[in-house]
Amino acid sequence: MFNSFGEIFRFTTFGESHGKAIGVVVDGVPAGVNFDEEFLRDELERRRPGKNRFATQRKELDTPEVLSGVFEGKTTGTPISIVIFNKDQKSRDYSNIKDIFRPGHADFTYFHKYGIRDYRGGGRSSARETAARVAAGAVAKMILKELNIEIEAGTVEIGGIRAKKEDFKYAKTSPLFALDKNAEKEWIKIIDKAREEHNSLGGVVKLKIKNLPVGLGEPIYYKLDNILASAMLSINAVKGIYIGNTEAHKLTGAENNDEISKEGFLSNNAGGVLGGISNGEEVVLEIYFKPTPSIFKPQKSVDIYGNEVEVNLKGRHDPIVAVRGSVVAEAMAACVVADMLLLNMTRKMEYIKKIYQ
Ligand SMILES: Cc1cc2nc3c(=O)[nH]c(=O)nc-3n(C[C@H](O)[C@H](O)[C@H](O)COP(=O)(O)O)c2cc1C
Repeated sequence: MFNSFGEIFRFTTFGESHGKAIGVVVDGVPAGVNFDEEFLRDELERRRPGKNRFATQRKELDTPEVLSGVFEGKTTGTPISIVIFNKDQKSRDYSNIKDIFRPGHADFTYFHKYGIRDYRGGGRSSARETAARVAAGAVAKMILKELNIEIEAGTVEIGGIRAKKEDFKYAKTSPLFALDKNAEKEWIKIIDKAREEHNSLGGVVKLKIKNLPVGLGEPIYYKLDNILASAMLSINAVKGIYIGNTEAHKLTGAENNDEISKEGFLSNNAGGVLGGISNGEEVVLEIYFKPTPSIFKPQKSVDIYGNEVEVNLKGRHDPIVAVRGSVVAEAMAACVVADMLLLNMTRKMEYIKKIYQ
């Protein structure tokens, strides 16, 4: 139950970092959606580790196998299960921290909660699980594509250096998913420096949802914005999210209000959501990632017996998680929107009548 997300478009992920496989079961997908397996592979490829020096060097191909829910290129309305077999686990890299908690990671809390230490690559708390979310997001995007709804994301800040431009087209080709080519040059320098110093960096992702109709979001506890926030904060290492103008809290009401004309809103400080319901403008989010906790500097910690120890990590880690995190953020946004669209169908008699006419 707590490994599932969504009300109607509902996915459940399974698997651990060094287990046999990870995967997802997506339920609630309407029958008749064009299922594009190549697109699913492309989406996983965008998040895949080991592609360049800005990501962990774990070499996974992340080839998905679709086990159910699709027939002759269309969804059947039954659960879609997708499995990805893990191929490049190196559990011995973790044997020296078998009994030790990594500062900044989930080792301490998982051990104290469950009494079991799956030290192999972080077990279920590892962001390896996010590949399964990207698979779910790809299915959600297949629904959105048929409705012309688009989601795009890119890196807007790394190590405190902010992009001056927001070029989402450029981000698609950039190894850092950078929104600004010039900022990217600076970012590459500071990431390389952090790696040399056995350190890591944090970053911020900007995300846009385009062509949403007015009316998505269920007041008052399943609002579009609170569910987007919950979706983003469920991603490993995400510590904050902002909807709309990130300076809004510094503005006056007169500056912040989006005035309205016959043609529509005259600005978009609200980031496309009012009262938890989409207002037809682009939905704009910023998502704040902390630095990767696993770093190769000696650090103070304790072991499972309570002794003070020094942690010296081995293994392969992302020098910055925000970069691959942007693909995960897109996937989670797609799942939220697909869910909100399906929920919206149950909210007006006119939609229900259309289905039964
Ligand atoms: C795409 C992605 C990749 C990540 N890669 C790593 C990694 O290589 N090493 C690491 O220690 N943490 C990595 N993390 C972050 C940890 O999974 C996360 O910090 C940890 O589970 C503790 O959770 P918390 O930071 O949300 O408290 C990654 C996160 C994301 C989103």
